[in-house]
Amino acid sequence: MTLDNDFARLADFEPMKAELTGIRQHLHANPELSFEEAETARFVAEKLEAWGYEVTRNVGGHGVVARLTVGPGTKSIAIRADMDALPITEQTGRPYASKITGKMHACGHDGHTTMLLGAAQYLARTRRFSGTVNLIFQPAEEAGELSGAQAMIKDGLFERFPFDVIFGLHNHPGAPEGTLLLRSGPLMAAADTVEITITGKGGHASRPHLTIDPVVVACNLVVSLQSVVSRSIDPTQTAVVTVGAIHAGEAANVIPESAKMLLSVRSFDPKVRSLLQERIRKLSASVAEGYGASIKIDYGHGHPVVVNSEKETEFARMVAEELVGADKVSICGLIPGSEDFSHFLEHKPGSFLRLGNGLDSAILHSAKYDFADESLTVGAAMWARLTERYLA
Ligand code: NI
Repeated sequence: MTLDNDFARLADFEPMKAELTGIRQHLHANPELSFEEAETARFVAEKLEAWGYEVTRNVGGHGVVARLTVGPGTKSIAIRADMDALPITEQTGRPYASKITGKMHACGHDGHTTMLLGAAQYLARTRRFSGTVNLIFQPAEEAGELSGAQAMIKDGLFERFPFDVIFGLHNHPGAPEGTLLLRSGPLMAAADTVEITITGKGGHASRPHLTIDPVVVACNLVVSLQSVVSRSIDPTQTAVVTVGAIHAGEAANVIPESAKMLLSVRSFDPKVRSLLQERIRKLSASVAEGYGASIKIDYGHGHPVVVNSEKETEFARMVAEELVGADKVSICGLIPGSEDFSHFLEHKPGSFLRLGNGLDSAILHSAKYDFADESLTVGAAMWARLTERYLA
């Protein structure tokens, strides 16, 4: 039988509070954008090496993987934190605000990195587990289509650092500090961007019969696309198709040669996502064909849906409830934003959690946003206890 105090508790992290706050504020003052995280990676790697981890640098760019095996256990867990900042000029007025105009930790990745470092230090000191822990410090989460998670996978993450399950978290403005939110199944959306170019035949506005008018085709297509979600998607599912831009023509008396449309397509289910793509492609092609126009569709795939596996999510929920109490653990609603952690979850079971950043926290990617340092010890303790529990 195991006792509660065989595993990391919040009280174990209280003495580390000042140190973790110092690390977080240091990272906050020195933000680095996606693909530029050289100093952050060096800072992280040097600490991990000093604590006795086997550290591999430059995994998929500036990625750092720290590995520690204790005892004869054969299980292996991975925990990921992201390290990059955003091209925003900070307006918080904090004493530790960004030193660099136009760069800012406006998504709390400074906090995510610090919490994983806190867990790393604790786990290396206490060594109360049997198996292997892999700490993944990922670059370029904010980079869009070819982001850090994909770069690390491409650089052999799964083969070079084998693990059974993976966990990660993001801070969550609007939930009380130190609370944890979990959701089994889909959590965050896939966000795809589609560029449609309609090519007709330009000419004089007074002689439309000699042209193929791409403006008429585009307008019909906007109306037709409204039927994709309403007529093709299961009403118990959720999806969005938004035509955010139409560009065509310059003058009242000229029928233009072509029209361009930009769509944002969001979904929470991989099957819904591929059905949306199929319907948008077919409908666009047939509408254009009906008017004698030609069409080119660039379907840009953003990150996939974040789909949390049930077993690992329930495991994390149990650990969270032990750590902070059931009253501070809740079910997370669907989040329409996207996150590149989804790429890891396409290959490995695991769960992406959310950690409250305060009810009055500014929203993510805002110039007034700041990570809540009060949550640092909760996140660090959560990773430590989750590791100890999984590798018990
Ligand atoms: Ni983020």
